[in-house]
Amino acid sequence: MGQLRVGMVGYAFMGAAHSQAWRTVNRAFDLPLSARMSVVCGRDEDKVAAAAAKLGWESHSTDWREVVQRDDIDLVDICTPGDTHREIALAALAAGKHVLCEKPLANSVAEAREMAEAATQAQAHGVRAMCGFNYRRVPAVALMRQLVAAGRIGKIRHVRAVYLQDWIVDPKFPLVWRLRKEVAGSGALGDIGAHIVDLTQYVTGQAITEVSALTETFVRERPLPGEAAGLSALGDGGAGFGQVTVDDAALFLARLDGGAVATYEATRFATGRKNGLRVELNGSLGTVAFDFERMNELEFYDAALPATEQGFSRILVTEPEHPYLAAWWPPGHPIGYEHSFTHEMRDLIAAVAAGEDPTPSFADALRVQLVLDAVERSAAASAWVPVEAALAVV
Ligand SMILES: NC(=O)c1ccc[n+]([C@@H]2O[C@H](COP(=O)([O-])OP(=O)(O)OC[C@H]3O[C@@H](n4cnc5c(N)ncnc54)[C@H](O)[C@@H]3O)[C@@H](O)[C@H]2O)c1
Repeated sequence: MGQLRVGMVGYAFMGAAHSQAWRTVNRAFDLPLSARMSVVCGRDEDKVAAAAAKLGWESHSTDWREVVQRDDIDLVDICTPGDTHREIALAALAAGKHVLCEKPLANSVAEAREMAEAATQAQAHGVRAMCGFNYRRVPAVALMRQLVAAGRIGKIRHVRAVYLQDWIVDPKFPLVWRLRKEVAGSGALGDIGAHIVDLTQYVTGQAITEVSALTETFVRERPLPGEAAGLSALGDGGAGFGQVTVDDAALFLARLDGGAVATYEATRFATGRKNGLRVELNGSLGTVAFDFERMNELEFYDAALPATEQGFSRILVTEPEHPYLAAWWPPGHPIGYEHSFTHEMRDLIAAVAAGEDPTPSFADALRVQLVLDAVERSAAASAWVPVEAALAVV
């Protein structure tokens, strides 16, 4: 069997999730190419060596530029903060490597556009690029899309999407990279809002055309992280304080091109909500609702049933007939967060092997970036703002 030799940059949260997926994908799915975990890349020699051993990579490097040039690498997997995506992706595409880039694609529309253009050019040479919106690959979400496409909820009137977290409610939580605009691009908006923008456009097949938004930063100054600060470490101010330069919360109304109206809420201040991603679609013939905290289920209300039988049903999405699930366990045995990444790698490998473009493409991810940009401009102007037309994209 042919190999797909992977070089991954970054080895923390997403690096670990992607490693798990690369380790598992060929054991769960029968694919024409076998993923080979050739090299993991980071900045600190000792830490990246330890990560390679722990996560299962054959070798390590402290220089991503050397990695993207290597003849024995076929695909570059970008698991670093947003300020690095553009440079690494452009270098990898120019070197003829396939690219998987974590979301959001970039920190600005200009960067995302450049990356989408480079991906389109590389496409002509058989080079593939994909952005890592992994929630598309949750089986219940894929089923939601199938039900919508089959017309089971009819014409969609309402899209209701929230992504709720609470990890920075404490004002002592330090100023990590996700709270600095120059590294992260934006706050809750780009980090988790991007997911619900992509997910709702994906499941409805409709594009957001205009938005009316507000953003808020509740805690504007935070302690600088000390040497050992992880995601749960609180700062004592011993290292000083710095300005939060991103949004803590972003809320917006939107119109979609298929006639639906929508509400979106992305926040890191929803006390008690850890990873509350929920999407509900109300249509002329029914409703579907997904809640990530119950990710193996989908709620479905079928208004075509006789009135005496109508009601919300809870579909347990664990049947082999459901998307991706034939590869896993007998019915009723649930899967977890990590499987979304295994499914992402499955679809990517299948597309590369077939000489087809994987989705979401960089152009799809640019469309998300255009929405994020419209949200920021709308919030700044306190006005409805049109999303730049996708046709003008690449
Ligand atoms: N798909 C998802 O659900 C999801 C979830 C979390 C994060 N993300 C995205 O993944 C990316 C990484 O986020 P994370 O949570 O893994 O962050 P993280 O802080 O846990 O890890 C970042 C990694 O990048 C490395 N790094 C940082 N700057 C670097 C540089 N200049 N060169 C080389 N390595 C560098 C760090 O050492 C670390 O290994 C971001 O784009 C983020 O938005 C996606």
